[in-house]
Amino acid sequence: MAVTELPDDRSDLLRRAREVLDANWRGSFSVPALRQYPYQWSWDSAFIAIGYAHFDQHRAEEELRALFAAQWADGRVPHIVFHEADPAAPYFPGPAFWQIERSPHAPSTHYTTGIVQPPVHATAVLHIHDHAADPQRALAYVAEMFPKLCAWHDFLYRERDPLDEGLVYIVHPWESGQDNSPLWDPVLARMALRPEQIPPYQRADTRAVDPSERPLNADYDCYIYLVDFFRQRAYDEGRIYREGCPFLVQDVLFNTLLCRAEQDMAELAELIGADPAPFRARAARTAAAIDAKLWDEDRGYYADYDLGAGAAIPVPALAGFSPMFAGVPDAERAGRMVGYLGSDAFWLGPDPEGGFPASSYDRFAPGYSPRRYWRGPVWIHMNWLMMHGLSAYGYAEQAGRLRSAIIDLPRVGDFREYFNPETGTGHGAEVFSWTAALLIDVLSGDQVT
Ligand code: GLC
Repeated sequence: MAVTELPDDRSDLLRRAREVLDANWRGSFSVPALRQYPYQWSWDSAFIAIGYAHFDQHRAEEELRALFAAQWADGRVPHIVFHEADPAAPYFPGPAFWQIERSPHAPSTHYTTGIVQPPVHATAVLHIHDHAADPQRALAYVAEMFPKLCAWHDFLYRERDPLDEGLVYIVHPWESGQDNSPLWDPVLARMALRPEQIPPYQRADTRAVDPSERPLNADYDCYIYLVDFFRQRAYDEGRIYREGCPFLVQDVLFNTLLCRAEQDMAELAELIGADPAPFRARAARTAAAIDAKLWDEDRGYYADYDLGAGAAIPVPALAGFSPMFAGVPDAERAGRMVGYLGSDAFWLGPDPEGGFPASSYDRFAPGYSPRRYWRGPVWIHMNWLMMHGLSAYGYAEQAGRLRSAIIDLPRVGDFREYFNPETGTGHGAEVFSWTAALLIDVLSGDQVT
């Protein structure tokens, strides 16, 4: 769908995007969206900081400082920090359900969840440094964040890669950031839960958002069962692995972002005079492992690996094309992926009237839905990651179309959480932070990798 990029509404768009961020700023961090997500989310904060880096260095720095203030003693960065949480607030699952006090590693100063989200934080810290109005302060900030980022990545490699493959696993769909992606269907189906295994609970996520745009109840039962499984094991990663966690997946997007984050750690190390070599080595190892184990030669993209089943998950999600963001594929594999993308399965074909790229799931695959969360809608941060990946491999035209969609979708569908690729209509949460932050980033001229 062609929406002309009008240079003269650029400043209006920027102003509206900043208003979204202002509305969600809580004094030292941002919420993704006040009504639907009233706390701090881990990878949201990284993307939000990437936007703030262009016009408010202080807020960009504070955003990640506030997140890492809740880092666990074992290095994990929790996926939600319940700042100033009212345990009775109508959010589920809240602190009273997670019960992180069962773990000796949990912070005593903050309520948090006990799982993680994709590690985009080192990438965000480098971005803040590279765009800082005050370079001296930015360097001090890098020095401050560096050990925390090290501990975070060390946690992942130490606790989530027991066989030392160079690939880390996730233990919950929420850890992927792609909550109800069709990727998880085969894994959740194998769980085959009996009603008595599911702790009593009441969903809160369908209060503010139409249930037809959210996960199904059966999926939610699995999400809650898993949280119960973790808290019963005091969030001890060794026990969770050894005692039969039914969800153990080596996820393409998570490992890609870790790989890129390790590359960015090498840059951060150089900035502060630390040794970049260990980070480069770890990044190279993870890149090689993604390329060796997760590449699907028949289908021409990268596939998640289900450790429980000992098999790949051959589901065509957009995330399977993300390894370009970390420079993982060679030119030939990148070309095959671009061929698939160009078949218009993700609305990224040559027809300019053919909708808005890129859908989160192949529109010709079973169960595609243009409205339901991770089963089809366009997500702005995925476009941003894919844009950088394609641009790095020289696919400027496709990268440009993703960039246009980042700009056009908020104009057509407002600053919503996700968008219908067929019409551009916005869905999910309203006044959504990273939609605004990444629009600011692309309008500020960053097109490079
Ligand atoms: C949803 C998304 C996740 C995001 C969170 C807060 O759970 O799937 O990626 O971090 O909302 O915005």
